[in-house]
Amino acid sequence: MKLAFIGLGYVGLTTAVCMAYRGFDVVGVEVDDEKVEKISRGIAPVKEPKLEKLLKYALSRKKFTASTSYRDAVKADVFFITVGTPSKPDGGIDLSRVAEACKHIGETLATQEKVATVAVKSTVVPGTTRTLVKQKLEEASQKKVGMDLNLCVNPEFLREGAAVDDTFHPDRIVIGDDWGRGGKILTRLYKKFYGRKTPPTMITNTVNAEMIKYASNVFLAARISLINEVANICQRTPGADVEEVAKGVGMDRRIGPHFLRAGLGYGGSCFPKDVKALAAFAKGLGVEPFMLESVQKVNDNQPYKAIELAGRLVGNLHGRKAAVLGLSFKPNTDDIREAVSLKIINKLLEHGCTVVAYDPAATENVRRLLGNKINYAESAEECIKNADFCIVATEWDEFRRLKPELFKKHMKKPVVIDGRRVYDPAAISEKAVYAAIGLGPNKT
Ligand code: UGA
Repeated sequence: MKLAFIGLGYVGLTTAVCMAYRGFDVVGVEVDDEKVEKISRGIAPVKEPKLEKLLKYALSRKKFTASTSYRDAVKADVFFITVGTPSKPDGGIDLSRVAEACKHIGETLATQEKVATVAVKSTVVPGTTRTLVKQKLEEASQKKVGMDLNLCVNPEFLREGAAVDDTFHPDRIVIGDDWGRGGKILTRLYKKFYGRKTPPTMITNTVNAEMIKYASNVFLAARISLINEVANICQRTPGADVEEVAKGVGMDRRIGPHFLRAGLGYGGSCFPKDVKALAAFAKGLGVEPFMLESVQKVNDNQPYKAIELAGRLVGNLHGRKAAVLGLSFKPNTDDIREAVSLKIINKLLEHGCTVVAYDPAATENVRRLLGNKINYAESAEECIKNADFCIVATEWDEFRRLKPELFKKHMKKPVVIDGRRVYDPAAISEKAVYAAIGLGPNKT
């Protein structure tokens, strides 16, 4: 089976390369020629563990090629649409890249006799595939979905920074098909890919598959906002510690332990966008999205809890030197989209602080955005040097490994605000003034 992936972001590229690694012939089509050029040389444009190694292997075995031209994908049996669906100002999603991809795939298929399958992996609001996608494909290909063209939805559940592992070991596969054949072809494809380890596969209609993607992300985002709200209450309750509370709560099988890490809120290219998009979609249907709006409200406020804690420990922030450890929206990526660090830095600058920041991977991305508004350190030690206080904004392992003595040795005054709960309060409190999200007052 020959496969084409349209759009080589972290989802498209990772899935394409993993498929090629397992022996499929894969073509990746991407409009950005610089990206294509890099990928063709074996350089992954996104920082994703294990990806570059697999990419180099797939290129060397000639199982994967990247191109800017749809003509190179003409032989594909299955086309995966993996282009972005960015937010519009009203919170809804911009489907122009999906529409464009459909047009090009349709034109490519118009020249072919065979019945190809198109699978939508991009996150699209419920109903998009059976309306816009179907219409654009049929118009451009002069073929009829369900007759001489198959169409289905196949949402992805990959996490940035763990996308390769998630591709090889997913919890489930969801396929939406309104016409019957595309779903069967994808099921066969995944059986070949996973063999005996094929995960539970759910086949449903396209609308449910599209909704499952949104519902999964808003559930996870809601868990985070809920535990963050509990954390904010713990933080004002003498003796309370949200870490212990989350541990106890997560032992309930009905709740489970995952996605209960309290902190400064969720960021990235998915949760903020998807919560907004489902809320906008609900409003369009006349449904008041009370929960979704609350999830967003908690998350919008959460980064500022770090500033609140800094004020509590340091007093007036004006003229203080702040060290920010961690810039990426989560560890193991250089992605700063919707990163809480940016909100924190901007607020610190408003308060009149000078800011020094350090991140193991994302510094250059922030430098491009903020330029010389802040200073950039080359190491965590350099970052905290002579600082009045330090905020941990991303839970990189490198920060977990910092010894408490280090803060005492390098900082003007050792004041640590742990926004991601990376330190043991008892150990660090011996060397530094310490406050953390969700840690009640008499423990700080
Ligand atoms: C998320 C979902 O986890 C994936 O299943 C989904 O496929 C993806 O969105 C997508 O829609 O494409 P991702 O945004 O890469 O993946 O990263 P997560 O690991 O889910 O983290 C998102 C944010 O939540 C991060 O800022 C993280 O720090 C935060 N988070 C996560 C918490 O604050 N607490 C937690 O317990 C877990």
